[in-house]
Amino acid sequence: MDLERRRADMNKFGRQQKGYVLALALLLLSVLTAAGLRTGHPAAVEADAGLAGDTEESPSVQTGQKLIALTFDDGPRRSTTTRLLDGLAERGVNATFFLIGAQVEENQDVVRRMDEEGHQIGLHTYDHVRLTDLNRTDFNAQVEKSRALLKQVLGHNDFLLRPPYGMLDESVKAWAGCPIILWSIDPEDWKDMNTEREVKLIVSEAQDGAIILMHDIFPESVDAALQVVDQLHAQGYLFCTVDELFAARGIALESGEMYWNAYP
Ligand code: NI
Repeated sequence: MDLERRRADMNKFGRQQKGYVLALALLLLSVLTAAGLRTGHPAAVEADAGLAGDTEESPSVQTGQKLIALTFDDGPRRSTTTRLLDGLAERGVNATFFLIGAQVEENQDVVRRMDEEGHQIGLHTYDHVRLTDLNRTDFNAQVEKSRALLKQVLGHNDFLLRPPYGMLDESVKAWAGCPIILWSIDPEDWKDMNTEREVKLIVSEAQDGAIILMHDIFPESVDAALQVVDQLHAQGYLFCTVDELFAARGIALESGEMYWNAYP
């Protein structure tokens, strides 16, 4: 009996010893693991710093950020354009406006406001005429006259061109003197001036890098544009000017070249 009890005690002791060894081993392991994590930490910080450095080299490119540009033709028209600017300002959104020279004359304060609030401004001829089949003198009377007027109003001279009806030929490209901006989403807002239809169409066609064509001379289009902003904001889109859109994609706009979108 004594022997058996001793054997039993020894076994118990042995189990306890094994338990101690196991506990010690676990403790040692946890200490080593903690030490390992600490020594590993600087490497992880370096990796983060590397990523941050890459981001700094191309600040405009935020991975996964969906960008889209709202553009408005045929303005300014004081009543509608002013309401649009108010709505865009409330939402912190910048757009691009292709202006009619003849309408700039009487709305210089509206045009200055656009510029001051960070919107981009472009040319859409002086009298909204087709630019195809014009001689150089007539072309200049539409494009250069508008450019000179806007330069006088704003003090700078870096305006994009959108030809009325999107119509252009080799002469237009050669004489433009700036990049030519077309569009990728056209709700044809002038057709029926139906806010609901326009919003649905634009939101359904929206994609990263798109350029939306609208007209800020119609009250229904102003309503539609602001609803589009709210709906696409909810989908994670960031609205930007045409220049910002292409800069974000690393595309340098060239004079006389045509651009429809900045799809990734
Ligand atoms: Ni137009």
